[in-house]
Amino acid sequence: MRIGIVGGGQLGRMLAQAGAPLDLRFTFLDPGSEPCAAAHGEHLQADWQDPAALAALTANCDAITFEFENVPAEAVARLAEQRPAFPPAQALSTARDRWLEKSLFRELDIAVPPIARIDSQADLDAAVAEIGLPAVVKTRTLGYDGKGQKVMREPADVSGTFAELGGVPLILEGFIDFDHEISVIAVRARDGEIRHWPVVRNAHRQGILHCSVPQVAHPLQAQAEDYASRVMRELDYVGVMAFEFFVTDAGLLANEIAPRVHNSGHWSIEGAVTSQFENHVRAVAGLPLGETARLAPCAMLNVIGAFPERDAVLAVPGTRWHDYGKAPRPGRKIGHITVLAADDETLAERVAAVEALLVNDLG
Ligand SMILES: Nc1ncnc2c1ncn2[C@@H]1O[C@H](COP(=O)(O)OP(=O)(O)O)[C@@H](O)[C@H]1O
Ligand SMILES: [Mg+2]
Repeated sequence: MRIGIVGGGQLGRMLAQAGAPLDLRFTFLDPGSEPCAAAHGEHLQADWQDPAALAALTANCDAITFEFENVPAEAVARLAEQRPAFPPAQALSTARDRWLEKSLFRELDIAVPPIARIDSQADLDAAVAEIGLPAVVKTRTLGYDGKGQKVMREPADVSGTFAELGGVPLILEGFIDFDHEISVIAVRARDGEIRHWPVVRNAHRQGILHCSVPQVAHPLQAQAEDYASRVMRELDYVGVMAFEFFVTDAGLLANEIAPRVHNSGHWSIEGAVTSQFENHVRAVAGLPLGETARLAPCAMLNVIGAFPERDAVLAVPGTRWHDYGKAPRPGRKIGHITVLAADDETLAERVAAVEALLVNDLG
C-alpha cells in the first residue's frame, strides 16, 4: 500500500519512518527541491495546486494525508474525489483559520479565552475596549511558532497594529495568565474508534515549543480527552489531531488544534507503545489502532537553528537523537532529542544534562 503525503517536511519524514515496518510506501508532494522526507519515499516536486501533480499523487497512491494545514481547499477536494483523503477537508479548513477554529470550540461548549473577530483597526480598538489589556492579536491564517502574533500590553501598543500585522483578518484574544500549557494528542480510526495519549506539558521559548513532557495521571486528562473527542466526532475526523490548552485555575481553556501529527507528540516515538506517527498511518491506511500508553518517564527537547554536539548528547544515558536532515537556519526546527529514564528524578537529571548542551538559535 502506498500513502501520498501532501508536504515533505520532518512530519512526513517521521510518518514514513513509522510506516516502514508495516511495509507502507510513501510519496510526498512538495515544491522544494530536496524536502527532508524525500529520503524515505518518492518525491513529486510540484506546487500544491498543480493539477498534473495532484493527478499523479492519486494515480500512484491508495490513500492520501496531509502534513500541514495550509493546503488549498481546491487541492484537498480534488484529492478526496479520487482517493480516501484524511483528515477531511473541513478539518483542514477549520484548523487553518483561528476564528473558525475557536468558533467551533464555542459551539461544542469548549471553553476558550475571550475572543473578537478583527477586520479593521476600528474593530481592534473596539474589541480592546471590551476585552481589555493585555491581549494577543493573531493573524487568522498562516501563523506558526508564534509568528503572526503580537502581545499588546499598553494602549500605545494598539494603535497601528492592524496595519503592522499586514492588514489581514485577525483574531483578538484576552491574554491568559495560565499556570502551564498542555496538549493532548488523539487519533480517530476510519471506524470511529478514538484513542488519546497521556497529556503533554509544554514549555515554549519565543513562541516556539522548547520542551514536552508527557504526564501520567494529569488531573485534566479526562477533560482534555473529552474536548478532543468532541472536535474529532464533529469533524468526522480520521488520523491524529493535536489539541493545545492553557491550564488555568478555572480549568482548561482551548488554544488551538492541529489537524496532523504534532511536535508535542514526538516523544511518543520512543516513549509510547505506539507513536503518533504510526497511529496516524494506521488510521489513514484503515488498520487497527495501537496502544497509546506511555512506556517510561520521558521528555522531548527541540533542536532549533543549530545542533548541539551530537556525541556529547548521545553520551547522556537515555537519549535518542533525531536529525531531520534539514539545513540549519535560525528559528528552524532541525531535530529533536528524546530523553528516557526509569524514574522522574533521573529523567530531570538527564534533561538538565541535555539542556546544558543545547545551542539553540531561536532567531
Ligand atoms: N491568549 C493567549 N494568552 C497567553 N498566551 C498566549 C495566548 N495565545 C498564545 N499564547 C502563547 O503563544 C504560544 C503560541 O501561540 P499559538 O496560538 O499556539 O500559535 P502557534 O500557531 O504559533 O503555535 C502559545 O503556546 C502560548 O504560549
Ligand atoms: Mg500553538
